[in-house]
Amino acid sequence: MRDLFADRDALANRFFNEDCITGARRHIPTGAVDLIITDPPYGIRGDTLDRHYNRDESYVTSGYVEVPAEEYARFSEAWVAEAARILCPGGAIYVVSGYTNLGDILHALKVAGLREVNHLIWKFNFGVYTKLKFISSHYHILYYEKNGGTRTFNTEARVGLLEKDESGGSLNYQDREDVWMINREYKPGRIKNKNELPSALLTKMIQYSSSEGDLVCDLFLGGFSTARVAIGLGRYATGFEISSPIFEAKVSEVMALPSGYLLGEQRQPVIAPRGSRRQPWEENERGRLLERYRTLVGEGLSKKGAIDLLGEEFGRGYWAVWKVLKEGGEVKSRGMKEGGTSSGK
Ligand SMILES: C[S@@+](CC[C@H](N)C(=O)[O-])C[C@H]1O[C@@H](n2cnc3c(N)ncnc32)[C@H](O)[C@@H]1O
Repeated sequence: MRDLFADRDALANRFFNEDCITGARRHIPTGAVDLIITDPPYGIRGDTLDRHYNRDESYVTSGYVEVPAEEYARFSEAWVAEAARILCPGGAIYVVSGYTNLGDILHALKVAGLREVNHLIWKFNFGVYTKLKFISSHYHILYYEKNGGTRTFNTEARVGLLEKDESGGSLNYQDREDVWMINREYKPGRIKNKNELPSALLTKMIQYSSSEGDLVCDLFLGGFSTARVAIGLGRYATGFEISSPIFEAKVSEVMALPSGYLLGEQRQPVIAPRGSRRQPWEENERGRLLERYRTLVGEGLSKKGAIDLLGEEFGRGYWAVWKVLKEGGEVKSRGMKEGGTSSGK
């Protein structure tokens, strides 16, 4: 029987200047990786992108390898199949994709037997400027899981369930909405890869979907941004980059990074002890809950959907919300949880 821990140790902070499909077959045993975060080539002409982003190209690493559009579907199926093989049961994958070849990636994920957890939208600044149509300023992030194990999801990794903003809204709810507004990093005068992902985006995926000591893989390393953040958060990293100039530009720098160097700068969530979740409602909180409930139902949400949502927003359980609504005369029967229809999955 294979020793998965030994497999993971052997891959910790090892990077390969190889094609990820043949390279994964050669170096990564089945089930050895806890989390994959990857940003495959987009299958569109890279130089067009650069012109739109209006950058000084002398600081962009040369050698970026694109995939011809006509090969994109086959290429996606091949690398996603490898990704599915190397993930451990319950392991998760985040794929960043533009819309041009999104269909091919969605199809490849399905063929590989991976299951959708969320389809996230990443909204960024510096969109592709156009005059006669809308400006494109988002990417898709496909968050999928492999069957057969328990997926890691650290609900309070970043924000405690009871933390509120000034107007009483749940900060945890806001952080877990499926549209992420995270700006690109503008790095004038620094050597970078085309379309390097911002650290804040990678930090969020890694914090929610892995634990310290886990192995995080990026099949398309580019500027090694995933590896850099994974090591910074006390995880191990591995991955592939086919282009030698791109690989050589960053590999030694990333391998020298001390594990956990980013941990000290992370926001510390305030996690309430279990008992305090039952703390009594304040009067203004009850008022806000009733008002918000009427608004949500008025907007067409089912009663159960509204209660589920309010539970998230107010950091309370379903029946705690239901009880306040009952006292406020908004709901009557306690059988609603089973009978209602939910807006979520
Ligand atoms: C969109 S970029 C990744 C950018 C990266 N996420 C970052 O933040 O810097 C895609 C990268 O995949 C590389 N690539 C293309 N085909 C590859 C393959 N078959 N195997 C491994 N890397 C490949 C490209 O050279 C490019 O650096």
